[in-house]
Amino acid sequence: MPLLSRRTLLQASAVAGAYGAGIGLANRYSQASAAADPLLLEARVTEAMIAAKGPTKGMMTYGPDGMPPTIRMRKGEAFAARLKNSLDEATTIHWHGLRIPNAMDGVPFLTQPYVYTGDTFDYAFTPPDAGTFWYHPHCNTLTQMGRGMTGMIVVEDPADPVFDAEITLNLRDWRLGGDGQFIEQFRARDAAKSGTIGTVRTANWTVEPRHDAPAGGFLRLRLAATDVTRIFALRLTGAEAKIVSIDGQPLPAPHPIDLQTIGPGQRLDLIVRMPDREGAVVTLEDHRPSAPKIMASFRAVGTSLKRDLGDIKPLNPNPVAEADLSTATEIPFALSASAENAGVESICGTLGFTFWAINKVPWPGDTADPTAPLAELKLGKSYIFNLANPTPHAHPIHLHGLGFKVLSSSLGPVPQLISDTYLVQPDEKVRLALVADNLGDWVFHCHIIEHQKTGMSGYIRVV
Ligand code: C2O
Ligand code: CU
Repeated sequence: MPLLSRRTLLQASAVAGAYGAGIGLANRYSQASAAADPLLLEARVTEAMIAAKGPTKGMMTYGPDGMPPTIRMRKGEAFAARLKNSLDEATTIHWHGLRIPNAMDGVPFLTQPYVYTGDTFDYAFTPPDAGTFWYHPHCNTLTQMGRGMTGMIVVEDPADPVFDAEITLNLRDWRLGGDGQFIEQFRARDAAKSGTIGTVRTANWTVEPRHDAPAGGFLRLRLAATDVTRIFALRLTGAEAKIVSIDGQPLPAPHPIDLQTIGPGQRLDLIVRMPDREGAVVTLEDHRPSAPKIMASFRAVGTSLKRDLGDIKPLNPNPVAEADLSTATEIPFALSASAENAGVESICGTLGFTFWAINKVPWPGDTADPTAPLAELKLGKSYIFNLANPTPHAHPIHLHGLGFKVLSSSLGPVPQLISDTYLVQPDEKVRLALVADNLGDWVFHCHIIEHQKTGMSGYIRVV
């Protein structure tokens, strides 16, 4: 069975109403076409069944109930959302990985005022890139994200091939005690190391969810690591699969997945070729730190569609500008431990300690009087960020508003990926190239939230 283009499929399904099982095409476009009507995202407290012990109280989400909704947008089309804050603390929304205007970036003080209880804030932008992204607050994040406010974004490209099924999985965990209720999110001694790890791992707020997908068919799995701390090492058993995209950016040459590590903030798009035999089960496992843990499973249903993984072509590339290495200016960034140790009061939450710094300056927290930018970049010029991680811990470094290309690493050959989040390993030096093509102040921080909130954050300014 040949792969149909989405346009052909839409025409075909308009006539015949057939095909498309498992992807809910009927609903896919309703939201995007209603962009004039903003999507309401209400930040609120909720409870949900995470562990078997009964509902977890004091969870935080966007929307009526349950997990924050997966938001569907379309590349190059206007999107609008209204944040309504029904929490009893300030919040904002950051659209992780979307290269949108600075005023929509959701960082308190730097790009917008924080949104108080009862207030609203309107976000409106046009996503330039297709792919898998996500959204979360940028205020008191260890609590707000730690308690649930991490949602996925799918930006569709009308030119994308249509697969036989698509499933998005929001991978994260929770710091719950034996009674299923939250325990302390933060232990200072762990924040000074690799972070305070959760106790219950879930996909879409569910322990080991099971899904059906067409036997012998192509299942597009969109995965996002949205946890505040956990780094996942993902492996698939029971089927072959290819990685087509990392961090929302298509790979020029899709390749089979072996063990793929993604840190907080990162995404992975896989095309899984489901087994031919009805009832056969494919599992997605996390192999970090050691013993494999099932994150989700997928059961083959129906008669085999007999797809051939060799037919998978690269997805349409996104329009991320290519840096001019002959004129690029190099900027060093040292990710280090901090000598200071006091916390600074901040409306967006403080952990009371400073353990980390970028270029020796620990971020003082979100205040009206932040430190100077780490660097000032000229609009349209090319840069190489030379990152060095002399610490014994991995740091998933995230840059807002701009895409970069990984040029080289001291640890050996690296694929030249385009990304917004790079997991810098202990003792690694890595070179990232970018064009400063988006004006404004862009936060640059570790996405292990305890590292971010105890100093490993700063911003660059594009003028
Ligand atoms: Cu995913 Cu500064 O954020
Ligand atoms: Cu870090």
